[in-house]
Amino acid sequence: MSSDRCSYLLGWYGEHARALPWRETTDPYRIWISEIMLQQTQVKTVLPRYQQWFEQFPDIQSLATASLNDVLKAWEGLGYYRRARFIHQAAQRIIAEHGGTFPSVFDDIMALPGIGRSTAGAIASFSVAANTPVLDGNVKRVLKRWHGQPELKDKALWPLAQQALDASGDPACWNQAMMELGATLCTAKAAGCDLCPVNSCCTAAFDVPYAAEARKTMPVQNVHWQVQLHTCPEKGIWLSQRPASGIWAGLWTPPIIELESAPDSMPAHIHQLTHRRLHLYPFISDAAPSGEGLWVRCIEGYALPTGIHRLLEKVIL
Ligand code: ADE
Repeated sequence: MSSDRCSYLLGWYGEHARALPWRETTDPYRIWISEIMLQQTQVKTVLPRYQQWFEQFPDIQSLATASLNDVLKAWEGLGYYRRARFIHQAAQRIIAEHGGTFPSVFDDIMALPGIGRSTAGAIASFSVAANTPVLDGNVKRVLKRWHGQPELKDKALWPLAQQALDASGDPACWNQAMMELGATLCTAKAAGCDLCPVNSCCTAAFDVPYAAEARKTMPVQNVHWQVQLHTCPEKGIWLSQRPASGIWAGLWTPPIIELESAPDSMPAHIHQLTHRRLHLYPFISDAAPSGEGLWVRCIEGYALPTGIHRLLEKVIL
């Protein structure tokens, strides 16, 4: 890669970058939360949730002392709730081990729960201009095209990401620019090579090997769940907390029974997860609920999975 031509990327970023609130700050707490939210959630979904988060948890201290239920509730609808549990644990570690100040050393950042090498690279470069690359899905695709090697694995991509970053002279902007290029122009479905600032140094420009890039998709497993609805005008609805691991870990749902196979009836709602399709069959029960749980009059106080919200909207609300 020739560093002078590739520096066009920084100019392009300066002109075309979307104005996003986490790009206007060097506060590592804010950057951390944005990066975790953005891992599996679209920018337009994250934007309002990012603002709301800091109204509820203005600093790491308030996050660390909140209950896990409140943190899960604040994460409601964003999915992949493991992220929220890790954030809560990490906040407690920052209080215990770093005196409440978000660490500025890359290795300390990466040692926190839920933070991998790429996210640590993003936080360190954006907060203290550390020379640490980002290698998320978008950046990987850009680098593979740039080098004309769609088969490259992470082990080979990390040094390429580091080289490009070193040559840029501006790690924070470079990392943002690579992510922006992958998110807006050099996308998986279509590469806008005609508009690309670095088409003159990209091996794959105007000849992107989409077929070679196509990822093998994991098969989706169909799951059939009977959702037992015990409701009572005086007491509300009976909810149980899901176990600490597995689907919807720690969230609140009506009792669920996994069926061996699809029943004759149609599901009232189908909720798609990454590798599983949950077919939800409501079962309205007059019997007294058994097992652990509680009557809830106002479900707004509890973190419920989106699939259960949708089912309840259809069946009882
Ligand atoms: N996705 C992950 N990190 C991002 C960032 N900083 N800006 C936009 N999208 C992102």
